[in-house]
Amino acid sequence: MSIRINPSILNCDFSNLRGEIAKISNADFAHIDVMDNHFVPNLTLGLPIVEAIKKATKIPLDCHLMIEKPDLWAPQYAEIGSESVTFHAEAAQAPIRLARELRKLGARAGLAVKPATPIEPYLEILSEFDMILIMTVEPGFGGQKFISQMQQKIIRTREAVNKSGLDVWIQVDGGISRDTIEIAAAAGADTFVAGSAVYSAADAYQEVESLRNLAHAHCH
Ligand code: DX5
Ligand code: ZN
Repeated sequence: MSIRINPSILNCDFSNLRGEIAKISNADFAHIDVMDNHFVPNLTLGLPIVEAIKKATKIPLDCHLMIEKPDLWAPQYAEIGSESVTFHAEAAQAPIRLARELRKLGARAGLAVKPATPIEPYLEILSEFDMILIMTVEPGFGGQKFISQMQQKIIRTREAVNKSGLDVWIQVDGGISRDTIEIAAAAGADTFVAGSAVYSAADAYQEVESLRNLAHAHCH
């Protein structure tokens, strides 16, 4: 199984985005957390800054939209060239229509669920998505503790993806570090977001490599 390590820039030095992203040249995608202070109680960055990041790096962008009204805003992130755009199931009015629109605009379409949101209704419509993001913390902030009960949700999602025969990626986001990545990998995740683990490490590049090796060792 192929593994992807997508560092989140949420906890990097925002006054030096170009330099901070250059540190993770071995990342598969740069994970960009867009927060609107409504869907989550935090405000980060939006379209103009994502557009500037897109111009400043060759690393593909994995935009995680923690915003209300994604049906209205998400397509613009695809239009500026984001390779992957993930919106929240709890916020979308018409997730199938929105995923189809994102794909039509050339982006991978991702669907995210908060820890208390059941994944089952969405397993019926897996073919509409390129990635399922299982949040392993409550969205809003970096540096929180991995919610270990999410392991079962990852396992059930992996079973459904395998049964479908589709190449839908399973992403985990929140509290992923050298201590927790093996739980998520063994449960069936293949795409790992790590924010504070990467940006608080002395050497971000090396930390990405360490996480990748651990994920490889524990995935099946
Ligand atoms: C949380 C964000 C995460 C966050 C992860 O709402 O979606 O991407 O940056 O940070 P860590 O890895 O520190 O939990
Ligand atoms: Zn995220």
